[in-house]
Amino acid sequence: MRVSLLAVVSCIGLASAAPRPSPQWSDPPPDPANVPQFFAAETALNECPGYSASNVVKTDSTLAADLTLAGVACNQYSDDIRDLKLLVEYQTDKRLHVKIYDAALNVFQVHEQVLPRPENENAPSSAAALQFDLVEKPFSFTVRRKENDEILFDTSAAQLVFETQYVRLRTRLPKDPNLYGLGEHSDSFRLHTQGYQRVMYNSESPNIPNGKNLYGTHPVYFEHRGDKGTHGVFLLNSDPMNININQTEAGDQYLEYNTIGGVVDLYFMAGKQPAEVSSQYAEIVGFSAMYPYWTFGFHQCKYGYYDINMVAEVVANYSTANIPLEVMWTDIDYMNLRMDFTTDPNHFPLKKVQELVRTLHSRKQRYVLILDPGVKAVGNYSTYEKGVEQNVFLKHEDGTDYLGVQWAGAVVWPDWFAPNTQKWWQDEIASFMDPETGVDLDGIWVDMNEASNFCQDITCNPRKKAEDEKIPPVPTESPRPNTGRPIPGFPESFQPGSSGTKMVKARKSEPLHRRQSSNGTMKGLPDREWFEPKYAINNHRGKLSDFTIYTNTSNYDGTRQYDTHNYYGHMMAFATHSAMLARRPEVRPFVLSRSTFAGSGRKVTHWFGDNESSWEHYRTSIRQMLAWVAVHQMPMVGSDVCGFNANTDEKLCARWALLGAFQPFYRNHAEESAIPQEFYLWPVVADAARKAIDTRYKLMDYIYTALYYQTTTGVPMINPLFYLYPSDANTFGIQHQWFYGDALLISPVTTDYSDTVTYYLPKDIFYDYWTHERIEGHGANVTVSNVTLTDIPVHIRGGTIIPFRANSANTTTDLRKQDIWVLVCPGADGTAKGRLYLDEGERIEQPNVSEIEFTWDGNKLNTLGSFGFQGGNGGESITVANVQVLGQKMGKRDIKGPWKLTEGFSVSL
Ligand code: NOJ
Repeated sequence: MRVSLLAVVSCIGLASAAPRPSPQWSDPPPDPANVPQFFAAETALNECPGYSASNVVKTDSTLAADLTLAGVACNQYSDDIRDLKLLVEYQTDKRLHVKIYDAALNVFQVHEQVLPRPENENAPSSAAALQFDLVEKPFSFTVRRKENDEILFDTSAAQLVFETQYVRLRTRLPKDPNLYGLGEHSDSFRLHTQGYQRVMYNSESPNIPNGKNLYGTHPVYFEHRGDKGTHGVFLLNSDPMNININQTEAGDQYLEYNTIGGVVDLYFMAGKQPAEVSSQYAEIVGFSAMYPYWTFGFHQCKYGYYDINMVAEVVANYSTANIPLEVMWTDIDYMNLRMDFTTDPNHFPLKKVQELVRTLHSRKQRYVLILDPGVKAVGNYSTYEKGVEQNVFLKHEDGTDYLGVQWAGAVVWPDWFAPNTQKWWQDEIASFMDPETGVDLDGIWVDMNEASNFCQDITCNPRKKAEDEKIPPVPTESPRPNTGRPIPGFPESFQPGSSGTKMVKARKSEPLHRRQSSNGTMKGLPDREWFEPKYAINNHRGKLSDFTIYTNTSNYDGTRQYDTHNYYGHMMAFATHSAMLARRPEVRPFVLSRSTFAGSGRKVTHWFGDNESSWEHYRTSIRQMLAWVAVHQMPMVGSDVCGFNANTDEKLCARWALLGAFQPFYRNHAEESAIPQEFYLWPVVADAARKAIDTRYKLMDYIYTALYYQTTTGVPMINPLFYLYPSDANTFGIQHQWFYGDALLISPVTTDYSDTVTYYLPKDIFYDYWTHERIEGHGANVTVSNVTLTDIPVHIRGGTIIPFRANSANTTTDLRKQDIWVLVCPGADGTAKGRLYLDEGERIEQPNVSEIEFTWDGNKLNTLGSFGFQGGNGGESITVANVQVLGQKMGKRDIKGPWKLTEGFSVSL
């Protein structure tokens, strides 16, 4: 049997003679007119005195010094802090930690519970790849790669400014540096280097605008210097910040951190290969969680599924159209008046939701629902009342609940620091997800957790606003008029003529609780300007407290939202993860979160928020994926396939169905007022989706293996081209092609409504994935036309071995019953290698796993490794039925099995 069913790409065009190092910016370059505004501060800060270092104490693996303000305070944006400390640690031979903090230890530092610090191995500095050098007066430092004397970081570019509400640190960089990361953004994957600013301030960001702060904060960048190496720099600071990347008037390139709080807490990662930097970053913020096998299936969602029948109909329509659907989702539509942990008695009666879930589960499909952080502040609503009793909500200073507005109307917000919050949230989830009395969900989607507040600014009166603007909207009384259509595969209650049941909640009173004071170690300086600090953060939603929880709000431990805002969503997602774990300690939780912070990937997944149904955002999804998986260490990510806001169309949706199939998280989702966009609605989209899902499913063990290795080594499961061709300067700016795993090069059509694509093939051996034809890459662009709406160019990199399932299936459960085939794709030297990880797919403890290494020496396939996974109770196949070897004299050679993967086997041509 052939690997793929459909032959595709035709008319391979001419390779262009001279490849140009294409920057491929697809977001507009920054407008020079904005630059003065972004960088206005510069001149005034020249008056600041900087610091001088003294009492320098060195050990084998550390350096400590006192830093003292070197002159008259400039107090440019707030008060200069006179006494600082410097601590340098050679934590490992590849990681250097440099921290500058206030001697009094009052300035806010990121909570350990949010980002547990990496273990310091106290490496001897003599063995380290990086070298820290100090200039005492005026204080500055450099970080150098010892091996080749490359200066990676040099703060002599400008004097350090360290004030109570402003910190500035600038490093020199080489001209036109190749910088990546600094998420979350929708800009070019390789960052602009002039007049460019990255703002770290999590916010609800409709249409994910370019050049703006979006939903997550990841202050880490990787810099690639070709053969001179790749390194990474992570600033562990959660305070709102502007990171400026620009050149001085004299043409000196720099990157500059400007934060309104927190300390300078830098981690330098030596690399020196790009994937090594990824691993080193994972060592700092944590390795990704392993997600269940089923989460790689295809997911369907839409805001605006009017009632439970409509949800069932969508599921049934997918079956009828013969498009595999693994996971069905429901948005806030299921809630009663948009309240968490309730179901709408008319449109989503609990009994019918339960029946839907039972039906899905019997078909081996899954169900996921959304939760929002804003809890409706209303009596007769037990989630709220229990929360009040248990003192779990954010408070004003006087101890009253802090109110805002979200989908449910006037809401309060869980304070994730309060001692009872986890338990309360966990109990709510446990009871809502109780298979007997609630909804037996397979995953939870946490949304709006930046947190998004419909209150536009601090003058808002939440109760009045909710009332005036009718939030939530007045619900219609009856479910959708019965269409009279039967819903195949669903129980009686889903067929024409049935009704649902009501849910009732109890009422209790609201006691007051005061918060602790903020005095205490590293909890943040008191008496700051909480709303409009003098140094302005370029938050695209306005001032710091606009459309979010007010920044003066205190957390239970006395810290303020001002400092912790950027991890509110992360904490909600982690609390949800723990709650899922408490409910089913044996299975890997699946939580999708809109807002994230550095390290979120160690427990939760992310989608790129409210994109548009546009070609631009189809392209954006690629560059976002590259940054999230390869830099930010969040592998299970993806965009709303076919686009969220506005109407998609069949051409865009067909292309996106194919594109999304080669990205880790694959979910079709759209906004309430957008037209329905389920894949079966257009014949060509349905064809594209069937092919996309068929291919994705056959490759599922290959990509599951790649995820497994990212979770254990940090080496990314999605590779930008420069990760595999780090010496090839043509690859540094490529952002619309990627390696799915380390073997499959994906080169989709990226021009609007076009059937032509020009892609780059590095100098290497490749094979057309669909035809298996051997192709030599020349380090040049290739143009292909007549790429139909059901085609996507995919190449296999020579030198790789890909295990795949011989056949696809309707669900991932059935997919695992299919036999395995092994595809050997020799490289230029005739050899190849690959891996296969097998386990039960869902449980946390996996006593029996297989980690198999395939090697091809030009003539013989060897399989080595561990062979613990024997198949489970579900009838999973561990049989290799066939080995295919490409690039042989006769083209492709098949060697028929079977071989059982209970032990290694060898086979020759
Ligand atoms: C905002 C989310 O980003 C979107 O995906 C969701 O559909 C709406 N909230 C409604 O819950």
